Amino acid sequence: MRRVNQNDSNSTKLQVKMAEPAEKTKNARGLPQRQITLAVDIGGTGTKAQILDGDGKPMGERLRVPTPHPATPRALLKAIRKLANEAGEFDRVSVGFPGVVKNGRIYTAPNLSKKWKNVRLDKLLERKLDRPVRVANDADVQGLGAIVGKGIELVITLGTGFGSVIFANGTRIHLELGHAPFHKGKTYEEELGIKALKKKGKRKWNKLLREAIDDLATTFNYDRLYIGGGNARHISFALPKNVRIVSNEDGLLGGIKLWEENLPFVQPEPPIATIANTRRRKASAKAAEGQPQPIRPSGFDKRAADGAQSI
Ligand code: BGC
Repeated sequence: MRRVNQNDSNSTKLQVKMAEPAEKTKNARGLPQRQITLAVDIGGTGTKAQILDGDGKPMGERLRVPTPHPATPRALLKAIRKLANEAGEFDRVSVGFPGVVKNGRIYTAPNLSKKWKNVRLDKLLERKLDRPVRVANDADVQGLGAIVGKGIELVITLGTGFGSVIFANGTRIHLELGHAPFHKGKTYEEELGIKALKKKGKRKWNKLLREAIDDLATTFNYDRLYIGGGNARHISFALPKNVRIVSNEDGLLGGIKLWEENLPFVQPEPPIATIANTRRRKASAKAAEGQPQPIRPSGFDKRAADGAQSI
């Protein structure tokens, strides 16, 4: 184990060390000792990093740098490498990203930059930091750190954007409620994100949040609702008994839990649309005209599914 330094990314013979089996020693709870994790949380205004020990306890300081503007992949990778250099020693990296992430690939980043679409953030960071990396949505990571793993648990985060995820007996399903309609034709994020808080003021924002909690209770019938994100501190009304605010520290633990997951999001990668693929598909469609067609679930590529065990 060693400190990551700037030269790592320049190495031509870069070898990514994949997660090693847990060491034989036991931790305080009698579980096998886990590795040291660098937990990174990318936010709309700040990007944070913290080293966590095998139990998820913070080691050293929590570091923060302003999220660069524009938050392009290149600029953010540079910021993360800076944090990693200062954070201390670690064996693996967990990243909470503010957008849709599947298999380490970024699909959306509404509050960062359009340039993120299709970026394999896990692979890019593995190359930069020479450590195995797992990436998931930021609300998902927060949620993993907060839930008890029983029943229906909904998590929302109130920050620059509006994050959401639901867990059924601990299995996570990412949600994008932030962009779903909520009130007077506006989305949850438009009504409860940072811009709305600044524009409407805390009183109106609290009123809307109370309405949102009622709506979510009716829709999801959750057993517990967790509210995370920096703006949760502005909540000024009494929360129902099954609703709790989660601290940043709770959220950090998610960086460890991400490595304990059975990769529920491993899905076949969509086939890449190349000109050759398109021609091949058109030719075989033409050849098959008038022939009886086999029934196949749409969008399912068996070869891709078989080989989809990437992070
Ligand atoms: C994104 C979510 C993210 C949330 C909080 C929303 O705009 O769509 O994926 O979790 O912001 O960062």
